[in-house]
Amino acid sequence: MDTATGVHAAWLPPEAFRALGSHRVLVRGDGPLAVTVYEEVARACVDYGGRVGRSPDAEAGPYDLVFALTGDVPALPAVVDVRAAAGAEPLGEEGFVFARVGGVCFVLADAAAGLLYGLFHVVRLGGSAFEGGDVPAAAHRPAMRTRMLDHWDNLEVHPVMGHVERGYAGGSVFWRDGGPRGDLPRVRAYARLLAATGINAVSVNNVNVHTAETHLLTDRLGDVAELADVFRPYGIRLHLSVNFASPVVLGALTTADPLDGEVRAWWAKAAAGVYQAIPDFGGFVVKADSEGQPGPFSYGRSHADGANMLAEALAPFGGEVHWRAFVYNHQQDWRDRSTDRARAAYDHFAPQDGEFAANVVLQVKHGPMDFQTREPVSPVIAAMPRTRLAVELQVTQEYTGQQRHVCYLAPMWSGVLGFRPWGDGGEARDVAALAADPAAGGGLVAVSNVGDDPYWTGHPLAQANLYAFGRLAWAPDSDPAALLDEWIDLTFGALPSGDPAPLRSTLHAVMDGSWQTYERYTAPLGVGFMVRPGHHYGPDVDGYEYTPWGTYHYADRDGIGVDRTRATGTGYTGQYPQPWSEVYESAERCPDELLLFFHHVPYGHVLHSGTTVIQHIYDTHFAGALEAEAMRSRWAELAGGGLVDAALHTRVAERLDEQVRCAQEWRDQVNAYFLRKSGVPDAHGRHIP
Ligand code: GCU
Repeated sequence: MDTATGVHAAWLPPEAFRALGSHRVLVRGDGPLAVTVYEEVARACVDYGGRVGRSPDAEAGPYDLVFALTGDVPALPAVVDVRAAAGAEPLGEEGFVFARVGGVCFVLADAAAGLLYGLFHVVRLGGSAFEGGDVPAAAHRPAMRTRMLDHWDNLEVHPVMGHVERGYAGGSVFWRDGGPRGDLPRVRAYARLLAATGINAVSVNNVNVHTAETHLLTDRLGDVAELADVFRPYGIRLHLSVNFASPVVLGALTTADPLDGEVRAWWAKAAAGVYQAIPDFGGFVVKADSEGQPGPFSYGRSHADGANMLAEALAPFGGEVHWRAFVYNHQQDWRDRSTDRARAAYDHFAPQDGEFAANVVLQVKHGPMDFQTREPVSPVIAAMPRTRLAVELQVTQEYTGQQRHVCYLAPMWSGVLGFRPWGDGGEARDVAALAADPAAGGGLVAVSNVGDDPYWTGHPLAQANLYAFGRLAWAPDSDPAALLDEWIDLTFGALPSGDPAPLRSTLHAVMDGSWQTYERYTAPLGVGFMVRPGHHYGPDVDGYEYTPWGTYHYADRDGIGVDRTRATGTGYTGQYPQPWSEVYESAERCPDELLLFFHHVPYGHVLHSGTTVIQHIYDTHFAGALEAEAMRSRWAELAGGGLVDAALHTRVAERLDEQVRCAQEWRDQVNAYFLRKSGVPDAHGRHIP
């Protein structure tokens, strides 16, 4: 536990700074971010006996590591060579060069944020940064300009949704009892953790903006500014979720019509007020006309009308609107099989491509439904070339075990980011390239999994998801297993372990395949939503089947799945470009893992794997539950071995007990349900209750 905050140090324990802190380091550069770098190094040097200087003249060299801005060249001639070796491309606001020449390491950047990211690069390198011969200059730049974490935090405990909506790690780190929580050291520790992953934007309140939170925009702005001051030294800009009906809710006007002159003036004034308090404010996040939130539809206006009105208010200050594309009919009649929730975002937004202002970013969930364990990539991402798009992921494990189950999500995200909407021919860009496009990309966003829990994330191993999200936003082609190694080394590298190899191999065994294990014992073949309605934990096969939410599997005695084909179904497959519109249209060509998302098939349908759908359901559910047991046994072997802290070991062990129980519950409910529906026995004669 960190002594200043009383919470777990996560991936930045003091020991992660051992190598840095035991060398002679020079930090040049001005401004708050350079000061942060200096303070980080100075603290490490106090801990580990190194030495830090602020200018080359202040203390005599030599130095082992130099942080400098490239504009600083006259003072440090060696910088010229290193910068030149890194190539002519500008480093940008956040990029940096790392090199080692003649036994001296250099971190060079065009702007101070680059020095900060370079610092954490050196921390990740650990002792190896300072060992061996020369290291050629290499430039490191973030792929995504915006790398953002959205908090779904309420100011107070909401009677239904709690303090943090879909939060599984306790209360908010920002708010309590309707006001600021006041624990700024903890917010600072959080900002530091996020900066170390590369995150540079945070929104601090729930997208469902209730009345108290609506006031954050105006009379409660000081509370937001206080947080912004804490995030700023770590290069993180703050954003606010705003209520589209603010002009009405805050009592000034009788309408929130985006084309009304007084409404526009109201927002312009509100934006000006925000920038007076927070000059580097990032912008607004907006959930409009979605799940009961107000929006432009009430006034007969379009999403573009609504978003552009807010964009106009923010534009003079350089702010952006993150307008969410999560719009669908949540009051659907389940009897109506032609309405398809998966179609909704595309149907609403694709026709408006080109209508959004330059500072509007359309924030699109990675799948067409809602963060299910397995979904196809949203067709919206490829459909709006003249709109800036951000892809939204969910780090909080709403549908993936709620931080009671181990579910390392980086492999799923990596698959999404590497998906090529146009296949291997034609337009070659993948999802990551679209989100990162300098002109048209809006970056990568995720819903946070953090709360006031001592381990930050409830399940200590869920920290790895937060870590991996930030790193993937910086470098989307990172290997999930390598990111796990980074996280393990930083987080556990310092424990009195002797040989870290057994811990590493245990964590890989438990975590690498955990998302697929979770998939095996829950909803099969991409069909989704077999969770308990409301809280969304645990199995309930028909829980959503006759509800208005548009989330159905249509299982009957003969088969299961949603026909989303153009030929006989909802036509959703037509929202994809080639080749996917053809691949998904065909039950023969559709990848197994998405078959039931796109097709209603008989239980006897034979998968590419060679097994039938019904047998696949039985097999995967038996296998998944066994895998959960194996994860638990593997973790148990670490007990008492001194490789991990005892309290952390116990916390994980308790959660694995629950994971095993819940996986068995899933196995039994799903298998029993389909045995009863289909009447087809398990080919292996296993017990199904
Ligand atoms: C899901 C989630 C809600 C959330 C919504 C959103 O539906 O269950 O709690 O508000 O997504 O993304 O806006």
